[in-house]
Amino acid sequence: METRRLAVISNRLPIVLKKAKRGKWEIEPGSGGLVTALGPVLKNRDGIWIGWVGTNAEETPAGPLLADLLSRGTRETGYSLKPVNLSRDEVKKYYHGFSNEVLWPLFHDLFSRCRFDPAYWTCYEQVNRKFAQAVVQNTEESDYVWVQDYQLILVGRELKRLGIKRRTGFFLHIPFPPLDIFLKLPWRFEILEALLAYDLIGFQTVRDLRNFIGCVRALFRYKVMKSRYMSRILLPDRETLVGAFPISIDFNEFEELARTDEVAEAAWILHSNLPNRQLILGVDRLDYTKGIPERLLAFGHALACYPDMRKKVTLIQVVVPSRVGVEEYGNLKQEIERIVGEINGKFTEIGWMPIHYVYRSLPRQELLAYYKTCEIALVTPLKDGMNLIAKEYCASNIEEKGVLILSEFAGAASQLYHDALLVNPYDRRQVADTIHTAFVMEYEERQIRMRRLRRSIRKHDIIKWVNSFLQAGIAQNLKDFPQA
Ligand code: UDP
Ligand code: G6P
Repeated sequence: METRRLAVISNRLPIVLKKAKRGKWEIEPGSGGLVTALGPVLKNRDGIWIGWVGTNAEETPAGPLLADLLSRGTRETGYSLKPVNLSRDEVKKYYHGFSNEVLWPLFHDLFSRCRFDPAYWTCYEQVNRKFAQAVVQNTEESDYVWVQDYQLILVGRELKRLGIKRRTGFFLHIPFPPLDIFLKLPWRFEILEALLAYDLIGFQTVRDLRNFIGCVRALFRYKVMKSRYMSRILLPDRETLVGAFPISIDFNEFEELARTDEVAEAAWILHSNLPNRQLILGVDRLDYTKGIPERLLAFGHALACYPDMRKKVTLIQVVVPSRVGVEEYGNLKQEIERIVGEINGKFTEIGWMPIHYVYRSLPRQELLAYYKTCEIALVTPLKDGMNLIAKEYCASNIEEKGVLILSEFAGAASQLYHDALLVNPYDRRQVADTIHTAFVMEYEERQIRMRRLRRSIRKHDIIKWVNSFLQAGIAQNLKDFPQA
């Protein structure tokens, strides 16, 4: 593969700015698969990462201090960090507004949660232009520009409008909706046209890819040369490549961490505090797409239908605070807490509370202890681009005794359908029955399934994801199709 310099553009920079004691600012590396996977590639290619620092410009450290913090971050990561500052109004209309009240619900098929405010669109265009200008200032013609996710769909189009030539790729981390849902978007032509401005567009699954091609055919009538994982769209003046590139995790990192003494100790503490029962785990950002109320109700239904599970299971539901500025998210928290209260109120007995509810972000070690220890993972989003929790659970489940219950509407189901127990998250009775099936599953069957799940995730890890996207994007190489 050619070694072009790489520029990654995402809404957030891979760092977190924190105000420590006495108001002193500190910079911490971000976590997550994308940072882990892109870090070495960016380092080797003298790369840069452009993104928002995550705070309003009014609350961000002053220019020289921010520059100093970011150059410290650059020294630590080995690649340059370039900030895009957003005002309070931009955060409200571009991030909370168009990104999370229009594109996020619509692309997750939840049309009724959308707020199609024209002011959001204007601001989304303005901020995407700002990101494009940051690309112009910080890159050269020979660099490969890789834009991430729904917040920044217009960056490629804005670069073209500025007359800037760069080889560009775009990856959509969330699902792409079917035609009848996409058509409801007032800016459907603009969004589709902007996506087509990239040289390569990547989706999580073949289903997302098909949905996108269906929309392109219906709205623009362009010709598409199809193959299973990659296709060419023939535009009037050029062509663009589209493909399915299911994202993954750094399998080895999770496996190795799960083997450390610290995680073993945390896991031991967990089980000794919740003894003689199977632990069922749910971990999600506070988001209505994750199907948390539906899952809790299904768990309650399982306790009602299967008395043999009472006092023998505990559901540990971790909810990670997210997008607190968006109204729908606040209402959801109240709903979840009400259902947890109802189920605990109904079934709790001395020495046993059915749901152990955690509302905070977990340190890595604690998260790994849950993954390693819990006998069942309940991953039931109503719709999800991929869902990394499902993959992280398997990678960390080194004793191979865990059962993965997975929503058929998570992108991960397109890869893990054979050995996970698939459910329709809207079907309360089916989810309840499946929880019971997992509860009574023999060790031998658990082991066979978990072993195969782990093998598949190990094989299709995040390194493979990065390499296949860059190979397709930089070489525009159609021979090496990534496998979904
Ligand atoms: N995660 C986290 N803090 C926590 C719990 C989980 O950062 O307290 C991470 C988890 O390791 C995973 C990510 O959050 O990498 C969730 O990714 P997923 O694809 O499941 O859902 P998303 O939140 O991106 O919609
Ligand atoms: C999903 C999106 C990401 C986003 C993340 C956290 O995974 O695909 O683009 O960064 O959620 O959401 P936040 O709004 O906090 O960045």
